[in-house]
Amino acid sequence: MTQFTSHPGEHEDVAPWRGALRPRAYALSNAVHQSLNGAWKFTLEPTATRTAATAGFQDPDFADGPWDTIPVPSSWVLQDGKYGRPAYQNIRYPFPVDPPLVPTENPTGLYRLAFDLPSDWPTRGKTILRFDGIESWAKVWLNGIELGTTSGSRLPTEFEAPVAAHNTLAVQVHQWSAGSYLEDQDQWWLPGIFRDVTLIHRPPNAVQDHFVHADYDHTDGSGTLLVECTPAGTVRVPELGIEVTTGEEVRMAVEPWSAEVPRLYAATLDTGPDGEVVPLKIGFRSVTIQDAQLKVNGRRILFRGVDRHEFHPETGRTLSLDTMRQDVVLMKAHNINAVRCAHYPPHPAFLGLCDEYGLWVIDEGDFETHGFEVVQWKGSPAAEDMWTANLVNRTERMFERDKNHPSVVVWSLGNEAGFGPNIGRMAAAIRARDARPIHYERDLLGQYVDIYSRMYASQELCARIGRAEEEASDEIEWMGHLLFSEAQLSDAALGAKRRAMPFILCEYAHAMGNGPGGLAEYQAVFHTHARTQGGFVWEWIDHGILQHSPDGRAYYAYGGDFGEVIHDGNFVCDGLLFPDRTPSPGLLEFKKVVEPVEMCARGGTLSILNRYDFADTSGLEFAWRLERDGQLVEGTLNVPPIGAGETGSAVLPDMKGPAEGEAVLTVSARLREAASWAEAGHEVAWAQVRTGALPSAAVDASASPAVQDGAIVLGPARFGLDGQLVQLGALRVAAGRLDIWRAPTDNDVCFESAWRAAGYDRMQHRTDSVEVTSTSVVVRTRVAAADTGRALRTVYTYTSDGVTLHVRVDVTPEGDFAAPLPRLGFLLGLPKEMDRVAWFGLGPGEAYPDSWRAQRLGSFETSIDAWQTHYVRPQENGNRTGVRRATLAGAGRAITIAGGFNLGVRRWTSNELAAARHTVDLGPGDTVWVNIDHAQNGLGTAACGPPPQEQFLLHAEKTSFAFSFTPTDQD
Ligand code: GAL
Repeated sequence: MTQFTSHPGEHEDVAPWRGALRPRAYALSNAVHQSLNGAWKFTLEPTATRTAATAGFQDPDFADGPWDTIPVPSSWVLQDGKYGRPAYQNIRYPFPVDPPLVPTENPTGLYRLAFDLPSDWPTRGKTILRFDGIESWAKVWLNGIELGTTSGSRLPTEFEAPVAAHNTLAVQVHQWSAGSYLEDQDQWWLPGIFRDVTLIHRPPNAVQDHFVHADYDHTDGSGTLLVECTPAGTVRVPELGIEVTTGEEVRMAVEPWSAEVPRLYAATLDTGPDGEVVPLKIGFRSVTIQDAQLKVNGRRILFRGVDRHEFHPETGRTLSLDTMRQDVVLMKAHNINAVRCAHYPPHPAFLGLCDEYGLWVIDEGDFETHGFEVVQWKGSPAAEDMWTANLVNRTERMFERDKNHPSVVVWSLGNEAGFGPNIGRMAAAIRARDARPIHYERDLLGQYVDIYSRMYASQELCARIGRAEEEASDEIEWMGHLLFSEAQLSDAALGAKRRAMPFILCEYAHAMGNGPGGLAEYQAVFHTHARTQGGFVWEWIDHGILQHSPDGRAYYAYGGDFGEVIHDGNFVCDGLLFPDRTPSPGLLEFKKVVEPVEMCARGGTLSILNRYDFADTSGLEFAWRLERDGQLVEGTLNVPPIGAGETGSAVLPDMKGPAEGEAVLTVSARLREAASWAEAGHEVAWAQVRTGALPSAAVDASASPAVQDGAIVLGPARFGLDGQLVQLGALRVAAGRLDIWRAPTDNDVCFESAWRAAGYDRMQHRTDSVEVTSTSVVVRTRVAAADTGRALRTVYTYTSDGVTLHVRVDVTPEGDFAAPLPRLGFLLGLPKEMDRVAWFGLGPGEAYPDSWRAQRLGSFETSIDAWQTHYVRPQENGNRTGVRRATLAGAGRAITIAGGFNLGVRRWTSNELAAARHTVDLGPGDTVWVNIDHAQNGLGTAACGPPPQEQFLLHAEKTSFAFSFTPTDQD
């Protein structure tokens, strides 16, 4: 009998690699190197086994003429469908959980590159081949000779490469491998050689590894520098006048590095003749834990952070340096000071940018096994010895590559990978080498880590943790009980150890779709309790993949759009940036909430709290502008520099003026000079103060209604005899009635089924009576859904002075309304020609009860089309709040709405918006729908996390609200 065994294959071996060189610090030295990025020959096979057509593909003579080419780096599933398609699952493995085996259907990319060695390539020394990232398993041959194998997708691998003048490099990459079990991060599966490939010469005396220790003593302002290196060499820091041998420690006065003031010293490490020169960028800083606080350079720091996956809508996890820089610049410009590398070490250049621009980094290992949840963590790699070597290898490769970055202040072992002794072994591997604190959120009891970390804890729980009153069992998900026994959860010693740790939210404020709500309330907790040191918003960017509809319109695809058998829909689009890196309203809100300078005006004085941890305010100027009745006065405040953590004040200009109307004073803290990440004048923080009476919607009820030609006429309005508002001035109008429905947001997931069961999306309006009095038209209605008993008794009282129609709406709930209302307001349909809207209120962007801080009071104007926020999956958006007056205009007509209200305008109904899966599913109808809302329900972050806090819930209760319509003709 002949047996051909296909499982286990080599790629199902749990060993991390074979033949690779020891991990070392990332460095671009003066040693000769050559990028091998570019067009490679490529073909895709459906399984890990070679077919007759590709057997021997690694041989230099193999005829690859008919093969296609593919760009390296890239993912083969992002080549316009030529080589399969991307797949998205959050927690679930896309294959049966049977570790370490993977499916026979295992897309396998075969790559070939013929290259000549440059003629000046040194003959002495060695050459190595470096792969910065291959997903998920590869075997590499050079000139037909096997160099080795590697796994650990987002980690580097180096092989010694016996190069010749003419070379053929062949790489076989399997999409699925044992390593796939360790890489179950919530993201697209994107196989391929997705990071750089480089050929690097190693001179005889090359740096094998180097470790820069640059410490800072805040008590005396001195720095200590010690560079370890094999072989020994010379370290020169010209700016500090230092020339010292490696292994020797020097101490001198330095300026420290921080995310706020990222002071780097250019240096070199030189291993002499036959060696190489490695440029260093040294940042002196200390990281310690004291008094349950994480301190840098002796001071408590506050993370205003984001979780960042590497993502680009066209190239997936292959990012250009420009895109990485764009991320860093966008973060800095939005007051973000920290980034957690979720959930794997990023491209090494990203960390260089973090050093240079200034961001605190939590560098995280390439390790997640969330899908073991389905088997109750049976066989969990964190707990099984067979995985130890692989996991420790992953930790070491992250640590060794990234150890020299001053920006890396915390090491994270991985994400959502259960718990077990391997977590301790990974932590020990780092501790043997480095003193920086260790993080791993699933070490819920703090056995191996230095930081207490949670994800998606509510503001209330964070406050409890801030007071060190938490229990380990507080709000632990069910998996907590699988991973830890009750005895462990209530272990007093572990509890005490944990309470001595600083606390961070490694993920919070799930930014999926419209939201997150509640950021300001989290920030208040972080400012109140020293132990709560901020957090990382989940997440930085929506991973929507750019696609086009048959008629050529662009949209972003998400899970399920590529025919995946199991998928998790648009859960992959939960970032503060849209896929094209346009900031979402959530990012603007975050920028405002975490602004490092907090200003508050009272009685002609502005108090200014400097919330930077290190920087004083000398880099900022404080400009003001006073707007009243369309008039503008501007100036600058005199604010002497305020130290970090201190408060100062300034005298505000006089706001008194002619009695009527609101006056608005805006103070803006801006960069005095250009920074590497923003122009001079870039606004860092702002505050507003207003005076004057709020406008009222009141109208003198002097006009009398008349019944004529089968209609009721009152001032500019015309009603049917059934009480239905049908015309305002020359404008035909539709709806004219109560509206409580909004297209559920992603974060409304906690309400949606209750809302739909209660029929909030299908309310019927029954008119019970229409009364025409001498000064009013009163329409009594009952608003209720089929098959339910509850109702909103709604009375519309219309009055007019002949020019303006005043609308008062009284709502009385009847029966049980357990679920809060999505919105409560008045819906009006206008002709589609009404395509512009101008308003005085908060703007220019959207706002909701628990997410409005970024909006300022002023006059704004836009089109109906530009009003919309295009969330990747369509949903409620665009609400403007604090609106005093709005005018919709078009085709020579206008209608002004006055009062105090929220405003929404769109060319589709809420139900059409709710039914759309992608932006291209929505098209304009014949009506512009206008929501004039008394209130909206909060947003919260329930897509993953807590629902809106109680104070932001819109409970059905007896409510009255009023506003007015004034139609006019325009020229
Ligand atoms: C967390 C996880 C993230 C992401 C997030 C939800 O549990 O760590 O990777 O899945 O939830 O979007």
